[in-house]
Amino acid sequence: MTEPLKAGRGLELRPLKVGDAGALFALVEANRDRLRRWLPWPDANRSVHDSRAYILRVRAQARRGTASSFGLWWKGELVGVAGFVWIDTANRSAALGYWLAASTEGHGLMTTAVSALLRHGFRTLKLNRIEIRAGVRNRRSRAIPERLGFRHEGTHHQAERLADRYVDHAVYGLLAGEWGATPGQTRR
Ligand SMILES: CC(C)(COP(=O)(O)OP(=O)(O)OC[C@H]1O[C@@H](n2cnc3c(N)ncnc32)[C@H](O)[C@@H]1OP(=O)(O)O)[C@@H](O)C(=O)NCCC(=O)NCCS
Repeated sequence: MTEPLKAGRGLELRPLKVGDAGALFALVEANRDRLRRWLPWPDANRSVHDSRAYILRVRAQARRGTASSFGLWWKGELVGVAGFVWIDTANRSAALGYWLAASTEGHGLMTTAVSALLRHGFRTLKLNRIEIRAGVRNRRSRAIPERLGFRHEGTHHQAERLADRYVDHAVYGLLAGEWGATPGQTRR
């Protein structure tokens, strides 16, 4: 199983365990309305049982090497989730996804987490390409790849169906050979 990842700002990235299901569900419940604005899954996550099933699923994917997700702990609390939502091993390519509790927005925690995930992806998983797709109007989400030196590659129109609408995705990419050129990417 993947080891916890080191990140700055007192943030810890640890693979979710079945025992985290209660904390995870409580966090989803507290943030449900804002998460469903930008993510497709909150409406299907209605109980601790659903959070437990999600954790079992991502742990199985991690064992197969097709995904790699982490719980984000800050000041002793679970505050979000981030990781590689899919990994295409043949092409050494992967996509990052993330969400954070409203109460912890605005401190740079997710930028710090994504920076640690870039190091994990390029160094440990030997990826060649990492991408991030964000709703074109999701300013906070788009700011993360922009802050970390990703290239804006274009738009996937109506790429995702959310609870009440289709959203266009802004697609960002970063290649192994480009990583480290921007200060926030921190290769160390
Ligand atoms: C997307 C999401 C994770 C972004 O959270 P965030 O807190 O804005 O992102 P960060 O943790 O990187 O913090 C950046 C903010 O902290 C500030 N900040 C403070 N110190 C910082 C530092 N050292 N480094 C970077 N940013 C810092 C930045 O200025 C920025 O605030 P601003 O937008 O008010 O200028 C969050 O809004 C969220 O969970 N949204 C709902 C789910 C979602 O949309 N997920 C993505 C789907 S594609």
